[in-house]
Amino acid sequence: MTETESGWVRDQYQYSWLQRLGINVIKVGSIPRHVAVIMDGNRRFAKQSGVATIEGHSKGFDKLAETLQWCRELGVKEVTVYAFSIENFKRGEKEVEALLSLAKEKFKDLIKEEEKLKKHGVRVKIIGNISYLPEDMQNIVMKAEEITKNNSEATLNVAFSYTSREEITHAVIESSKMVKQGDLKPDEIDQDLLESLMYTNHSSNPDLLIRTSGETRLSDFLLWQASSSITYFTPVLWPDFSIWHLLAGVFFYQRHQQSLARLRLGGGKEGWQTDQMEQDTTVATLLGGWWSGASKAD
Ligand code: FPP
Ligand code: MG
Repeated sequence: MTETESGWVRDQYQYSWLQRLGINVIKVGSIPRHVAVIMDGNRRFAKQSGVATIEGHSKGFDKLAETLQWCRELGVKEVTVYAFSIENFKRGEKEVEALLSLAKEKFKDLIKEEEKLKKHGVRVKIIGNISYLPEDMQNIVMKAEEITKNNSEATLNVAFSYTSREEITHAVIESSKMVKQGDLKPDEIDQDLLESLMYTNHSSNPDLLIRTSGETRLSDFLLWQASSSITYFTPVLWPDFSIWHLLAGVFFYQRHQQSLARLRLGGGKEGWQTDQMEQDTTVATLLGGWWSGASKAD
């Protein structure tokens, strides 16, 4: 990445030969279509580095932009990030104000990057109850969605003013309104209907969910959508997240996704034994790819 590059789309990223090698090796295996990330540890990072809390969040934003570039390079088509939970409104007034102001500035920057987003085909969606946000902020995030709505190569979902339980409650309330208005019969309420009323109704379920900072909870994030996602917890604080942590997460996914696919199909004990063989084959293929990738690496 060049020193001066900032903003959401960082397409001047310079990979080292070793990073290219790592990417090539991982790309031998299957790549998750949709990756969700709980970007945790910004305040601990700020404390450790002796800087203000908001500086930790600002570094967190830079890491998000870098991660999006890495995901694009890997061929990930959809990324969902937990940027601001409804629970975060309960933090100190100064921190909430600073976080909202940082986010406002970043979404304004995003609108200025309309052409770059179009070039890469990135659609931006906000998931969450934006009515809890100040009105100027609501308008900015709606504009970000509006100007990217026709892009169709990749999707970035920013969970902002979001919790999963609020999302599910919201869907239930909407369905009960439809019943009250006579547009729906009570026995027509089912999982498909509720899914169609979720903030994520445009989206597929995440294949891989990553949480940084060593916490091993989902913290009310995509509880419905991540019921079958492979979850990868890593101790690194979000601003210290590197391409190697992402590759490790994807490798973890590759090791577990065949077992998951079999489980979904109802495979039994023999299925698990075959899984182990398939995993070993995947690792062998990866190692083979590593050496052939090394010869082509820059
Ligand atoms: C969690 O770390 C992070 C947040 C609550 C905010 C995440 C925000 C960003 C990455 C930047 C803004 C992003 C956008 C999309 C504008 P924490 O504060 O819980 O840190 P801790 O776990 O160390 O206390
Ligand atoms: Mg935290």
